[in-house]
Amino acid sequence: MESQRLDKILASTGKYSRKEARGLIRAGRVLADGVPVRDAAAKLDAEAVHISVDGADIACRRVTWVMLNKPAGYLSATEDRRAPTVLDLLPPELRHLFPVGRLDKDTVGLLLLTDDGATAHALLSPRHHVEKVYMARVSGRLTDADAAAFREGVTLSDGLRCLPAGLEILSADDAESLCRVTVQEGKFHQVRRMLAGRGKPVLFLERVKMGNLPLDETLGRGSFRFLTAEEIENLRVF
Ligand code: URA
Repeated sequence: MESQRLDKILASTGKYSRKEARGLIRAGRVLADGVPVRDAAAKLDAEAVHISVDGADIACRRVTWVMLNKPAGYLSATEDRRAPTVLDLLPPELRHLFPVGRLDKDTVGLLLLTDDGATAHALLSPRHHVEKVYMARVSGRLTDADAAAFREGVTLSDGLRCLPAGLEILSADDAESLCRVTVQEGKFHQVRRMLAGRGKPVLFLERVKMGNLPLDETLGRGSFRFLTAEEIENLRVF
């Protein structure tokens, strides 16, 4: 791995902000190979040097994974001329990450961003059937017939057949219904099109889970956090 600034190395563990890292470094609490380094800009190779804070080893990440609670109005892209992208919600040092798949501009909730191309690719591969769970509010009354159609596999307006999906109706009246949808694929506008195809257009869509990783409910919309080492490991169960 390349050498990086010491404050950046500490921040990439997800345990400290850059500011906190600088404070720790200034206070002489950060050692590199047993020697205090008081310069936050000192460049070190985190995989070659043994770094500790208050005597505890820093586990250095080779990859970065971030969970974002995406708000409406942001594109799941790395750049766009007209609309803000999800990268605008991250600090400059994390803008090399890319979104793992896409949420529509108006879909909110769990979006992962990473620089770990191999795992991202595997998570998105249709071969691995990684489940994505969404909460949807729709217009009209959802019925058991809709749930049965989802179980069978809905055919979209362009003739594409979806794999069997879960539709759990949480509340339903003539005006609106609330449901939990579980899909294994990621076709373009899939959940919206599946529900629209049943005559129940989506009013609000939120992704709440990807694989075994639920959206962290303590994250406000527009906020992000680093995944823990355990969460990253758990994503790699293919
Ligand atoms: N399905 C959709 O229709 N939109 C999303 O953003 C995600 C899944």
